[in-house]
Amino acid sequence: MTAQKNIPRHVAIIMDGNGRWAKKRLMPRIAGHSAGAETVRKVIQSCIDKKIEVLTLFAFSSENWKRPEKEVSRLMDLFSIVLTRDSKKLDKQNARLKVIGDRSAFSLKLQDKIAAAENLTKNNSGLTVVVAANYGGRWDILNAARQLARRAASGEIDSSDIEYEMLESGLTLHEYPDPDLFIRTGGEKRISNFLLWQLAYTELYFTETLWPEFKEAEFNEALDYFAGRQRRFGRTSEQVEQDQ
Ligand code: FPP
Repeated sequence: MTAQKNIPRHVAIIMDGNGRWAKKRLMPRIAGHSAGAETVRKVIQSCIDKKIEVLTLFAFSSENWKRPEKEVSRLMDLFSIVLTRDSKKLDKQNARLKVIGDRSAFSLKLQDKIAAAENLTKNNSGLTVVVAANYGGRWDILNAARQLARRAASGEIDSSDIEYEMLESGLTLHEYPDPDLFIRTGGEKRISNFLLWQLAYTELYFTETLWPEFKEAEFNEALDYFAGRQRRFGRTSEQVEQDQ
């Protein structure tokens, strides 16, 4: 049964298994990434249908540069194509695109395309699709810490007055709620330097399904799992039940 209640506001996904999907079919790895892009389109539509507010996708980690040069360059080409084609579709869907990560490492052409896609969709009010590209959770926290260190060094704040919220305001996703549900496809059970700070209380869902095979039924299963969880945020289950 599909969950109607308890829909997460923010879903974050590590889309793993594209390479293995292609290998099983004796296809080049990039064919797996192209098939993965199709799954992205379907999951975006499902999120819109279910009125999920934010979908964050890990498209390229800061460690992915270590992959063979050919795969990296084909992935960059794919991002470029997806940005051009799909940003128009996102705009029609009233969805907003936001890219997080250190984009200075990308070609200027790709950086321009990212900025254009963000700009085109910035006034939309439906689903926000966050694409993490050249992103790392530690990088995100480090940047926020540096901002605070600068403010402390200039005398604007005292280091002993620093609160969680102040660090949080320097993180890339500060304007959105933390993810309620994290999904990783492809069988690994790791966070892999994704949203380290923001996943503190997130429900974690791991599936063996490879990303190109993650269809609506699989997404619904993940949402059903979430709907069945009791989120306690450190309290006892009795306290949570009293509040309901
Ligand atoms: C991990 O699978 C996937 C990636 C590193 C790339 C993800 C990219 C896409 C789905 C395409 C475009 C998406 C957007 C949002 C622009 P893997 O290669 O590590 O798979 P493996 O573990 O089977 O080798």
